[in-house]
Amino acid sequence: MTNNKKFVWNESYSVKVHVLDEQHKKFFDIANQISDLLNNPNSSTFKHSLTLTIIELARYVINSLCSEEDFLKKYSCKGYEDHLISHDCYREKVKELLSKARNETTDFYELANEVAEFTQNWIDYHIAYKDKESIDGTVLNKLLP
Ligand SMILES: [Fe+2]
Repeated sequence: MTNNKKFVWNESYSVKVHVLDEQHKKFFDIANQISDLLNNPNSSTFKHSLTLTIIELARYVINSLCSEEDFLKKYSCKGYEDHLISHDCYREKVKELLSKARNETTDFYELANEVAEFTQNWIDYHIAYKDKESIDGTVLNKLLP
């Protein structure tokens, strides 16, 4: 593993919408679970824990991406269609990861690295960039009382 760092949420990741920030923090927790796994590659529960973490990534679709999509639609956020495409790519990738986790011939250490790369990219390019780009000042003004 080349990248088993810890992800620490800070204000620079904030989209200034509490409920969405809380969901994004949960994603950081999942990314950190992968890092922890890669720090203990010889653990007897490695395979099982990795599968559970991939299931967490799938749950994140229901617990976060869907409600974020409702928010983006409700406030006519910039680049809505493009944003949905990005979320659909997430859905497809998680489907692929789940199917690899079910395959007996899969190298789980390799799979863990793939998951780590995916979660890191989602933080760096989606949460840190795309979500903030869509939820800009125009949207935040609509939320003011
Ligand atoms: Fe998003």
